[in-house]
Amino acid sequence: MKKIGVLFGAENSFPSALVERINARNVNGISAEFVEVGAPQLDKAPPYAVILDRASHSVPFYRAYLKHAALKGTEIVNNPFWSSADDKFFNYTLAARLHVAVPPTVILPHKQLPNGTTDRTMRNLQFPLDWDGLFAYVGEHGFLKPVDGGGWRDVHHVHSREEFFRAYDQSRDLCMIYQKAIEYSQYFRCFVIGRRKVRIMAYDPRRPYEERYVKNAPPTSRSLLRRMTRDAITLCDALGYDLNTVEFAVEKGIPYAIDFMNPAPDADLYSVGQANFDWIVKEVADMLIAKAKSAARASSLRWTAFLGAGTGRANGAAKKRTARKPITARPESLSAAPAPAPAAPTEEQLRAVSLCRSSMLEV
Ligand SMILES: Nc1ncnc2c1ncn2[C@@H]1O[C@H](COP(=O)(O)OP(=O)(O)OP(=O)(O)O)[C@@H](O)[C@H]1O
Ligand SMILES: [Mg+2]
Repeated sequence: MKKIGVLFGAENSFPSALVERINARNVNGISAEFVEVGAPQLDKAPPYAVILDRASHSVPFYRAYLKHAALKGTEIVNNPFWSSADDKFFNYTLAARLHVAVPPTVILPHKQLPNGTTDRTMRNLQFPLDWDGLFAYVGEHGFLKPVDGGGWRDVHHVHSREEFFRAYDQSRDLCMIYQKAIEYSQYFRCFVIGRRKVRIMAYDPRRPYEERYVKNAPPTSRSLLRRMTRDAITLCDALGYDLNTVEFAVEKGIPYAIDFMNPAPDADLYSVGQANFDWIVKEVADMLIAKAKSAARASSLRWTAFLGAGTGRANGAAKKRTARKPITARPESLSAAPAPAPAAPTEEQLRAVSLCRSSMLEV
């Protein structure tokens, strides 16, 4: 019997619905249960063919266990090595490289010295910082947020230099990024499952938490949907995430990728709503069953191919593609070697796109 394990934290509705769904499918030789872990020994393989990880981003013990499990042959969703290596500044840099629109963004030195360091540790830092240059690039209307944040923790929306410095002063020893605010007319959150299936949900971050997945969003255009689909798949494929949400803020018709480092995205029934929840449970269950059947192993780092260092699919395909200009305020700040423009989604991928009725469009 191959086991699918679900590792989770404080959430309630999604893990149990998923286990029930997989077991109700009654697939020969496959069952699902909640992971149970004690003090793992390095010479013992965990009893799971596949583990869905919803918790290791906040529990280092789980992260270490999952990396060990991956080496012992368990397929982990999401790959704990990708998650360990990832951060938002890298995300945006990679996105720009892949011709996905992102806002101008800088990374800032820690406001307070990280624990265990002194002034002497920081002698490579420019002082004073070129604040005028920074505000000329990003602007004074922006978002200050942690480079590896989540759950809106320590996210500050600022409208002036004064507000910026007040927020920066509060950032303790966190590593922060500062990013131009997109003045959006529409906002979408897209679930991407198995780097192939996409559900585009209208999402209004300005509303109270329980009302964000909005019911009556205005229709949007087919070309915008195609572009968000393509960009969402491109990002998740490059980053190696089998389960992720990609958020887009749309300004003047351009979908800017705002946050796509959500390897344990909120899938709670009470926030996403019944229709989205049912879709997510079904698609994640199908993906996990397929992985358990194929017993596939984690592949090598995917983004090397997108950085021009590897020999992966992206590079091979690049020969046939025409490079498009990256959409950032300062394309010249990217490194010299342009990445291949991503391919348009295949017909199969487009068929796989599921659109929440509330974000509907004429196709
Ligand atoms: N550049 C931006 N332009 C406009 N809005 C932004 C921008 N950056 C962040 N926001 C707003 O701030 C919110 C939180 O930012 P972000 O998603 O990066 O943080 P997070 O902590 O990862 O949040 P989440 O838990 O929703 O994933 C976004 O949902 C969006 O509403
Ligand atoms: Mg996030």
